[in-house]
Amino acid sequence: MTFLFNSDPKRGAIFEEFFARELPDVPFSMDPATVDPQSVRYMITWTVPEDLPRYRNLEVLFSIGAGVDQFRIDAVPGHVKVVRMVEDGIVRMMQEYVALAVLSLHRDLPAYLDQQRRRSWQAIAPVQASERRVGVLGLGMLGAAALERLRPFGFPLSGWSRSPREIDGIRCLSGRDGLDTLLDSTDILVCLLPLTDETRGFLSTELLAKLPAGAALVHVGRGPQLDQQALLDALDSGHLAGAVIDVTDPEPLPSDHSFWSHPKIVLTPHIASVTQPETAAVAVIENIKLCRAGLDPIGLIDRRGGY
Ligand code: NDP
Ligand code: OXD
Repeated sequence: MTFLFNSDPKRGAIFEEFFARELPDVPFSMDPATVDPQSVRYMITWTVPEDLPRYRNLEVLFSIGAGVDQFRIDAVPGHVKVVRMVEDGIVRMMQEYVALAVLSLHRDLPAYLDQQRRRSWQAIAPVQASERRVGVLGLGMLGAAALERLRPFGFPLSGWSRSPREIDGIRCLSGRDGLDTLLDSTDILVCLLPLTDETRGFLSTELLAKLPAGAALVHVGRGPQLDQQALLDALDSGHLAGAVIDVTDPEPLPSDHSFWSHPKIVLTPHIASVTQPETAAVAVIENIKLCRAGLDPIGLIDRRGGY
């Protein structure tokens, strides 16, 4: 019942230590070339390997990241449980990034960086946090945690999800009507939706137009959710004031892409949050224990919804 670690060896070495200590009866391998494929019950990977059918006894396929859109789930046999990464480290990093991005937009950092490049010393009239409404698309592990981290700043906070949710002190909305209500009353929109058939192209011209004039975007979901031209048009027309973009399509972004030098865009190379091996190893080991006890692992994907 081998655990196959199919990702970078540096993180793998940390996983191996944890497995040796916490789950010594599960052989650990980082080398698909030498492992007997029939012995592999558990695999962690970023993408589904082409030769997946070789692993005939695979029971659980773990994503090394929080998203599973990079998996071709249809290519994974139906009896294999597909599990996304649910671990404290990835949550903490996303909380930091969203706080950084929201505060940067709230305090006009893109405009000040542009002024700095032009050697212009001009104060922009400040807006109080209590007047800056933040709306988060996606109220899952990361969306809810990001809102939690923003709470002490005093922004009016809202979130939107597919099914109705309740979070103390957060205005939770769902469904199409809920989306319009959220957009209409959001000054900084944060996208933390998973990439699915329903969310591809979601940040469209139409959606951005529903935000109040002067609003801003933080995009940390997945690149294909954003219509890049729609964002450029909204920024260039002055409808949107700024954007912090961590995910693009494609990644990396070509060197001649307009996002690189746009004065209203802060661009980062998909680093908002990264799985932390120490906490991830603990989470994966706990999940294997749950599976061995006949229980569902935490982060089990609903194949119909795709997330
Ligand atoms: P979860 O699965 O925990 O949460 C997803 C949330 O999105 C849920 O609230 C869900 O609604 C909502 N949702 C999904 N589809 C729709 C829809 N069609 N309409 C409305 N709401 C919808 O995911 P996580 O919070 O763990 O992660 C979110 C995404 O963040 C990941 O899939 C990944 O793409 C991205 N990510 C980006 C990283 C980066 O570094 N930039 C790092 C890690 C993740 P409901 O509650 O009703 O199910
Ligand atoms: C993830 C990511 O899904 O890094 O974990 O984007």
